[in-house]
Formats: sequence, structure tokens, C-alpha cells
Amino acid sequence: MANDQSKKMKARERVFSGAQPTGNMHLGNYLGAFRNWARMQADYDCIYCVVDLHAITTFQDPETLRDNVRDAAAAYIASGIDPEASILFSQSQVPAHAELAWIFNCVARLGWLNRMTQFKDKAGKHKERASVGLYIYPTLMAADILLYKATRVPVGQDQKQHLELTRDIAQKFNNDFGVDFFPIVEPAILEEGARIMSLRDGRQKMSKSDPSDYSRINLTDDAGAIAKKIRKARTDADPIPDNLEALKDRPEALNLVTIYSALADLPLKRVCQEFSGKGFAEFKAALSELAVEKLAPITAEMSRLKGDPAYIDGILAAGAERANDLAAPILKEVHRIIGLTS
Ligand code: TYM
Repeated sequence: MANDQSKKMKARERVFSGAQPTGNMHLGNYLGAFRNWARMQADYDCIYCVVDLHAITTFQDPETLRDNVRDAAAAYIASGIDPEASILFSQSQVPAHAELAWIFNCVARLGWLNRMTQFKDKAGKHKERASVGLYIYPTLMAADILLYKATRVPVGQDQKQHLELTRDIAQKFNNDFGVDFFPIVEPAILEEGARIMSLRDGRQKMSKSDPSDYSRINLTDDAGAIAKKIRKARTDADPIPDNLEALKDRPEALNLVTIYSALADLPLKRVCQEFSGKGFAEFKAALSELAVEKLAPITAEMSRLKGDPAYIDGILAAGAERANDLAAPILKEVHRIIGLTS
């Protein structure tokens, strides 16, 4: 009993992660992030955020954004986030995120932000027309994490560079002010599922913003749509090889095998062995069946939750209150450290 109590008393490491409410949550978000978020609840104190302030770095229609915030929360819950055990809230409802981000804008160096590949990808050719918010996006992300002194951050591969920047900001803050205040975060990137690619082009990641709906499996797709998208997914004429090496230069084939492996929770090698010599018609049929089996309960739960916006709003409001309580003393201490208060 005493042992149990002391286990409970021992502070667990904190996990923080988030996703942008920009519509079309997809299989990449689920396999790269949400599924991992749900699993981490057993061992960590988890904080999961709908990052609406990040979303507005590109223009969002206000009505759509309101819906998308609820949809994102529904996707988290349907993927297994327990809003009692974890804190689930939207970023704008905890003003300390934006305040700490401002302080980090004064810590981070221009040269660091200039290196961010995601800005280059998103801004495209017309950098000067991108919002200033898009450019400083990563300092807000660092603030999200460090505001709670979170040490583990489950994300997909595409966020790795942002987490390195978060580490640099924490380190520079600690050095500049001679403190050991912010922890150095560890990315938690799963091997299988960390980078799910487009079903139309195995060299592009699966993305919410791809104009082709056939490029991704949305978490709202029904069984028919999933099967059709997998059937139409680009592949090559060769059968599945018995080893991974042989998939190296076959990005579309590798992607489908990766999706199977992540959904089945089997190592890639095992999937190759199981389907070795089989053609893609047969493999795609097995993959469709598996994807429908795993995703149908999530889709059903999301649509049930969407029918109850008041419930979602209640969860987000309660989560914001808990997050504010955790954030307030940390921001207060930052103010003291940097000399804004005594
Ligand atoms: P976002 O909204 O683009 O994506 C949410 C999560 O889904 C992962 N992901 C993928 N994983 C595998 N394959 C894919 N094709 C794929 N597409 C997306 C992302 O890696 C991410 O984990 N900047 C973040 C949101 C953010 C955040 C944070 C994350 C804001 N603050 C603090 C962690 C900690 C983003 O835009 O994710």
C-alpha cells in the first residue's frame, strides 16, 4: 500500500503534443501521432493540444476553424485519448502559450529559423507573402512544450527539426540566464508510421493540404472510400519481395507495406515475409480489410462525438482550466528569471 502510494506520488514525466485543426485528419496523423499519444497515457502525464494559434499562420475561415477545433478534439478522443486522464484543450485558451512564445522570439536567432525546412515548404516560392506567424511558428511550438516542462514529445518524422529547435531554445535560455530551468526534450518518433506517404506519390508525405483526396485516407472515410483509395493507390508491377532491402527504390510499394505494418503492429520485415511473392491486388485487398477493421471504430466514434458539440466544448474548457493551472507558475518563474518581475 505504502509502495503504491509512493508510486503515485512520484512525479511522472510529462508528454506534450498537438495537431493543427486544419481539417482532414488522416491516417498519417493517426499512425504518426494520435496512436502513439494514446499509448503514452499509461506511463506519462499527457497534455494534448489542438494548436489553433498555429493553424491561423495561414488564413482560416472563422466558421470552419470553429468546427475544425471540435473535429480535432473528436479525432483525439476517438483515437483513444482519455480526456479525464490526459489534458485536452485548445491552445488559444491558455494565453501563456503566446506569451512564452514572445519571450522565445527574443531567445531564438534568425539564423535558426532561416534553416527551418517546413517554412520553406509551406511558404513556397513567395516567401515575402507568407505571414510573419508562419515564420516564427517553431518558437510557438517550443513554447507549447516548454510551458509545461514536458520532456517527451510524440510526433511524426516531419516535426523532428522543430524539436531540435526547441532543444536549442531551452539550452540558450538556460545559458543566457544561468539557470537549469527548461528541460531538454526527447522526440518520441515511432519507427513504423512516422512518415506515411501519399497514396498517389510515394515521395510526398500524406498531407491534409494535398488537393487530391485520393492521396490520403481521412479519419472520416467510410469502408467504401478506404477500399477504393487503397485499390487506386499507386504501385508498381512487381510482387512483394521477401526482404526490406528490395523495397528501397520502390517508394509506393514501401509505403503500403509500411501502412500495413503500422496498422498490424508487425515489423516491416515480417510483413514482407508474410506476403512475399504475392501481387499488389492481393496485398491491397488484405490492407483494405485491415485498415477498415482498425479505422471503422475511430470513424464511428468521431461521428458520434461530432453530434455532441456541447460535450466537446465542455472537455476543452475543463482541459484549458487544468492547463492554465499548470502553466501559470512556470510562466511566473520565467518572468522572474528574465527580470520582468522580482
Ligand atoms: P500537424 O498538425 O501537421 O500534424 C499532427 C501530427 O501528425 C504527424 N503527421 C504525420 N505522421 C506520419 N506521417 C504523415 N504523413 C504525417 N502527417 C502529419 C505530425 O508529425 C504531427 O505529429 N507543428 C505541429 C503541431 C504542433 C506540435 C506542438 C507538435 C504544434 N505545437 C508541440 C508537438 C509539440 C504540426 O503542424 O503537426
